[in-house]
Amino acid sequence: MTELPGTRSLWLDTAPAPDRTGTPLPREVDVAVLGGGIAGLTTAYRLGRAGRSVLVLEAARVAAGVSGHTTAKISTQHGLKYATLTKSKGAEAAATYAYTQTAALDWIAAASAELGIDCGFTRADSFVYTTRPGTVENLEREAEAAAEAGLPATFVTDVDLDVPSLGAVKFTGQAHFHPRRWLLGLAEQIERAGGTIVEGVRAEGVDELGGTRVRTTAGEVRAGEVVVATHYPMLDRGLFFARLDPVRDLVVAGPVEGNRRVDGMYLDADTHHSVRGYLNDGVPYAVAGGEHYRVGDSVDVESRYERLASWASDHAGVHRVTHRWSAHDLSTVDSVPYVGRYHPASRHLWVATGFGQWGMTGGTAAGLLLADLLTGKENPSASLYDPNRFGLRSAIKTVENNATVAKFLVGDHVSALRKPAPLDELAPGEAKVTREGGELIAAYRDPGGELHAVGAHCTHLGCLVAFNNAEKTWDCPCHGSRFALDGSVIQGPAVHALPKKRER
Ligand code: FES
Repeated sequence: MTELPGTRSLWLDTAPAPDRTGTPLPREVDVAVLGGGIAGLTTAYRLGRAGRSVLVLEAARVAAGVSGHTTAKISTQHGLKYATLTKSKGAEAAATYAYTQTAALDWIAAASAELGIDCGFTRADSFVYTTRPGTVENLEREAEAAAEAGLPATFVTDVDLDVPSLGAVKFTGQAHFHPRRWLLGLAEQIERAGGTIVEGVRAEGVDELGGTRVRTTAGEVRAGEVVVATHYPMLDRGLFFARLDPVRDLVVAGPVEGNRRVDGMYLDADTHHSVRGYLNDGVPYAVAGGEHYRVGDSVDVESRYERLASWASDHAGVHRVTHRWSAHDLSTVDSVPYVGRYHPASRHLWVATGFGQWGMTGGTAAGLLLADLLTGKENPSASLYDPNRFGLRSAIKTVENNATVAKFLVGDHVSALRKPAPLDELAPGEAKVTREGGELIAAYRDPGGELHAVGAHCTHLGCLVAFNNAEKTWDCPCHGSRFALDGSVIQGPAVHALPKKRER
């Protein structure tokens, strides 16, 4: 078995941030941006530059959520997206998508240079490869569709990675960086331009009638416009919970044997393992991702980390994992993010979500688009990303998602009720959802023998949470909320903690 460290993102470990938790909340701003990740900070930066007074409200710390837990590839190559988009929405939509993602990549390149943000922005070619004969034709089709969409794409047979590749789609001139250094630099620029960033304050609701108001754990803010960029939209009124699919992707990183550098960025089209290089304090590292699973599914997360570490060792030469972490990705029903008005009737409420695994360009493109929309600038990509584009396909997918939710709302409740297990019998290191005195309890006994017990119903819509044995969290299978052992919210859409039951 591979020896693995505790979970901690390489990006968080190597970029300390100033503490903004005590910053007073302004009473009134032009724009309140909820969420301090890549979409929120890009939106706030662009609007600040356009002369708006902006507030970024972050429930935890900026650049410490999904944006701090990515593999940080700034690539317009999003798996086999262009063939899919061309087929489902037409060549024009694929070209619009390609154009906006390229604009995001180019903007990061230009802005990081102009602002002097030392984020290790490095150009690199990107590859989606296969080792299976049956996938080669799909890759050829993807190379064609991507080139048709205006991207620098070709089909090649060789990749510079230790895999028996049978072919690959190559995109030249893509990039990777240190995501947190980029975002902390952007946050500093927002403040320099007069914007306010408040950490440690959670938005609990937004009232749209009689002037837009954000209700927070530290009081109320009046805002001309409100942008919800909280990864999973924290307001249920857009029914996003039925239109987003949460998956969790694991990441491991470590130095590469013989100090070899991984120059390109690689993704296996079939297994979805990926790898990129990173120079960590002068030491060549590889950052590998994969082994995804649906949030809250009862999987052994520890074994998945072990499998990923062994893949990184076999194919990228990672001889020792120094960091491991996981990211939460949300996919939309048609694989195009939702960016625009929160719901058809909203006038001053906006949203950006659903970037799948491509949040670096996707989140940036969302920020650029929202800044245009909020300043009244025409943007030809607005209809492609419109969150309120509903077709038959999305309706069907919505029903499928809700069927999964229904299973967790009803089926799991029944099975947990059938199997009550006294909490006193929980062994150290063991976790269980069980019934005690007519209540469903999520309980974990830590290795020191202390019992941590909280209510087992997710505070979003009541699904039963499941234990994540690698990160020691309670994760909700329905829409991906995650909770710490004490019940506090790590990740929404839930905004309220699981109630504490007992500790001893
Ligand atoms: Fe929706 Fe848990 S996240 S019910």
